Formats: sequence, structure tokens, C-alpha cells
Amino acid sequence: MGQELLRKTYQVHGRNFDKAGEAASAIKQLLKELWLEATIVHRVVVVAFEAEMNVVMYANEGTVTLVVTDDDIQLEISDQGPGIEDIALALTEGYSTATSEMREMGFGFGMGLPNIRKNSDLFHIHSVVGTGTLVSSVIRLNARA
Ligand SMILES: Nc1ncnc2c1ncn2[C@@H]1O[C@H](COP(=O)(O)OP(=O)(O)OP(=O)(O)O)[C@@H](O)[C@H]1O
Ligand SMILES: [Mg+2]
Repeated sequence: MGQELLRKTYQVHGRNFDKAGEAASAIKQLLKELWLEATIVHRVVVVAFEAEMNVVMYANEGTVTLVVTDDDIQLEISDQGPGIEDIALALTEGYSTATSEMREMGFGFGMGLPNIRKNSDLFHIHSVVGTGTLVSSVIRLNARA
């Protein structure tokens, strides 16, 4: 475990599309001020944005927590919402329960969770139906042998 350098939590409100993406934008701004590779920043922002959008689209309330240590960046996205019944199905590329309104806004390709997983060095998802979902992602700062 690396030394923790920074920790920040952002609130995310379900169905508030006006503010959707604000946590990911704030994280992007914050990480740009640190001495990080652009590819790392990009991966973190993809994970944060996709997870934040899932809270907006499917849950009631949630938080995005960013932790920067001297050897990784950790994101934890926790929500109170319907939860996910079949995690394997939700992780399948192209699977989506997005509404037609969400699709009109350009979401609902069923690529969010697959992209979160692809961009993470460590990825966990835990969900309780009727309660909520927790997504955690770790992106390492230095590739190790
Ligand atoms: N936080 C969540 N709470 C409840 N259900 C979720 C949550 N996140 C994802 N899901 C379910 O998993 C499905 C797949 O999610 P994923 O992010 O991969 O795709 P999407 O959100 O439907 O589309 P896209 O991310 O491409 O806009 C969703 O359609 C939804 O049914
Ligand atoms: Mg999504």
C-alpha cells in the first residue's frame, strides 16, 4: 500500500443530468495539476465519468471518492439505488437497460462498465439488489515487473 497523498469525495445525484459529469470534470482538473502521465489521467477520468453516469442514470444518490497515493489512484463509487441483479450480464459489452431518453442523450451503449474494467488495473463491483452498488477501481502509477 502506498502513502496516501490526497483524498476527495464528490456527491452525485441520481437523475440530475444537468450536473452529470461534474465529479469527473473536477477530478480531471485536480489530476492535471499533479505530475501525472496523460494516459493515467485519461484512464482515471474514463472510470470516474462512466461510474458517475451510472449513478446519475440508475441510482438515487451516490459518491465518487478519489484517493491518490504515491503508487496508485483509487476510485470508489458507491450508490444507494436498485442494485444490479446479474453482474456478469451488466459487464457484457452492449448490455443496457437505458431508457430511450437516455439513448437520445447519447448514453446507453452498454459500454460503461466494460470500459471501467478495461481501464482499471484492479476492478471490483459489489451490488445488493434494492440497496445499491459499489464499484472500485485502482490504476497504478508505475508499471511494475
Ligand atoms: N450503479 C448502477 N446501479 C444499477 N444498475 C446499474 C448501475 N450501473 C450499471 N447498471 C446496470 O448495468 C447496465 C450496464 O451498465 P453500463 O455502464 O455498462 O452501460 P449503460 O450505462 O447502459 O450504457 P453506457 O455506459 O454505454 O452509456 C446498465 O444498463 C444498468 O442496467
Ligand atoms: Mg453506463
